Amino acid sequence: MSSLYNAFFGFRENPFNLTPDPVFLYRSHQHEEALSSLIYGVQSRKGFIALTGEVGTGKTTLLECLRDALTQQRIDFATIFNSRLTVAEFFEMVNYDLALGCNPPTKTQVLLALNDTLLQNTRNGSTTVLIVDESQNLSWEVLEEIRLLGNLENRAGKLLQIIMAGQPEFDRILDDPTYRQLKQRVALRCTLRPFGESDTRQYIYSRLSTAGCADPEALIPDHVIAEVHVRTQGIPRIINSVADNLLLIAFAMSEKQVTLKMLDEVSNDLRLEWGAQRVSRERIFDDQHYPHKLAGRRE
Ligand SMILES: Nc1ncnc2c1ncn2[C@@H]1O[C@H](COP(=O)(O)OP(=O)(O)O)[C@@H](O)[C@H]1O
Ligand SMILES: [Mg+2]
Repeated sequence: MSSLYNAFFGFRENPFNLTPDPVFLYRSHQHEEALSSLIYGVQSRKGFIALTGEVGTGKTTLLECLRDALTQQRIDFATIFNSRLTVAEFFEMVNYDLALGCNPPTKTQVLLALNDTLLQNTRNGSTTVLIVDESQNLSWEVLEEIRLLGNLENRAGKLLQIIMAGQPEFDRILDDPTYRQLKQRVALRCTLRPFGESDTRQYIYSRLSTAGCADPEALIPDHVIAEVHVRTQGIPRIINSVADNLLLIAFAMSEKQVTLKMLDEVSNDLRLEWGAQRVSRERIFDDQHYPHKLAGRRE
């Protein structure tokens, strides 16, 4: 639906799509660092790597980037996106993704075939990766199976590299004494935090540029960005929704620049809540960008 405004603003595609598209990756310091850790962890056969962060901070996007990198390096991988699955479904997915060819894909058959593939890939100087998203939803039984798969190793290191992404709840699971054995196996733990203001600004401008916008700063001026940052608390997913809605409103009004007034409308529509709401509003109205409001109040 947002493609409505693409032609109006001269975009090749929608800059604020909610899909985790690697083409739009903004390499913030922490995203860059987390992605390098994932790739390094796989290459050096570290075994378990955990990636955690609040909803909308970019975990799935990084997993997509990792998948691209693995495909380029011809490294076999299986991905579990739907983490509310049974043990049987888990092995079916592994069988399918790694093309193990077990029919029927019973746990025993899959384990045997997987073992062969892991050894084969290791002999070929490669490795094999299991990627799990939304790990906080995994049942204890599936987590146990994954932990056991992580035990397979030879002298060169772990045979299966396991990347587990999840919401902060997953951090709590790892720190729970019940899961102590799993936690002990986690070789690397990375966390994605919301952006600071400078990253929010560069993030928005980077997505606009990638979409083909010639002058991002003219479209979303700096003082609006500063307020978008406050109201979205620097969470990329919320920034995308807000920016998309801002562009829709500007388009509907045939304006080529978004304003704080439009942001107020979007904040209401999206029911955004942010800390010290009133303070920030006062700041806006004392802002140099609203000299007419100040003048009006003085009269
Ligand atoms: N570093 C980034 N560069 C580009 N887009 C990002 C980045 N981080 C998050 N996003 C965008 O924010 C939205 C939410 O990201 P997602 O990866 O789905 O978050 P999570 O999986 O942590 O909930 C997506 O639209 C995604 O494209
Ligand atoms: Mg996700």
